[in-house]
Amino acid sequence: MSPFCTPISDLISMNKLFSAKEFINYLLRGKSKYYIHSPFVYDFVKEVLNDKRNYYCYEEIEFYRDLWCKDDSIIEVEDFGAGSHLEKKNKRSIGFIAKTSAAPKKYAQLLFRIIEYYKCLNILELGTSLGITTLYLSAYNKKGNVFSIEGSKVIANEAKKKFIQLNRSNIQLIQGTFEEKLIPTLNEIKQVDFLYIDGNHKLKPTLDYFNTCLPYLHENSIVILDDIYWSHEMKQAWNEIKKQPSVTLSLDLFRVGILFFRKDRDKEHFRLYF
Ligand SMILES: C[S@@+](CC[C@H](N)C(=O)[O-])C[C@H]1O[C@@H](n2cnc3c(N)ncnc32)[C@H](O)[C@@H]1O
Repeated sequence: MSPFCTPISDLISMNKLFSAKEFINYLLRGKSKYYIHSPFVYDFVKEVLNDKRNYYCYEEIEFYRDLWCKDDSIIEVEDFGAGSHLEKKNKRSIGFIAKTSAAPKKYAQLLFRIIEYYKCLNILELGTSLGITTLYLSAYNKKGNVFSIEGSKVIANEAKKKFIQLNRSNIQLIQGTFEEKLIPTLNEIKQVDFLYIDGNHKLKPTLDYFNTCLPYLHENSIVILDDIYWSHEMKQAWNEIKKQPSVTLSLDLFRVGILFFRKDRDKEHFRLYF
């Protein structure tokens, strides 16, 4: 059968099967900190990845995540890019979106710790959704700038309401597609310290977003690519991006890939247990 005739439900289960296979691969090949010889990566694992402290912002954000997850009000959303594995309808409850779109607590809190440890001030998120992870991205420095782009007007409005209610004036929510808003936003930020790509999980758009952001990154920037084993296309995107000459270190945590650009090192890649 031509791939164009493949029903959506088949594609969804193909993606799930793909992710499951990749997860087994990850479990077999991942490394714990005891096998890492790079001082920088060892430090990252010890001080950031395995930091079990309960930070000041965790409780408040998780409280609001719980409220969102329990909210059964229905909104009509526009679909952008490759979306959820689970739902293809346009009418969804806020609770459903909160449960299926937002980065799980473990990863959102890791992003907060990365920003805190490496003191990132200019932050860009592609794909706000309801803004749960944006709250983590903006928690470290209330004077820093968090720019977050979301295509769906209705979802962006929900996020905006929460940012105002929680007084997160350091978040600038930009409503529009990445295709139309990314370049003007980058021109406003000028230099991106932390980039989180979490929307439109297709190969070409993902490569395009990364390449568009590249001139605005610097030696100490950190890039997070979400859902790197969500589909074959996302795995390809991750593998292509890792090869980019300015990427000197890539860390594969299965759900997310992390890229560093420090010049004082040879190119390395690690798959780490998290
Ligand atoms: C996985 S969700 C983001 C979740 C969010 N980062 C979090 O962790 O809470 C992806 C979002 O990206 C948006 N999106 C996808 N493709 C887009 C595009 N081309 N332009 C604008 N927004 C897009 C979707 O509407 C969706 O809300």
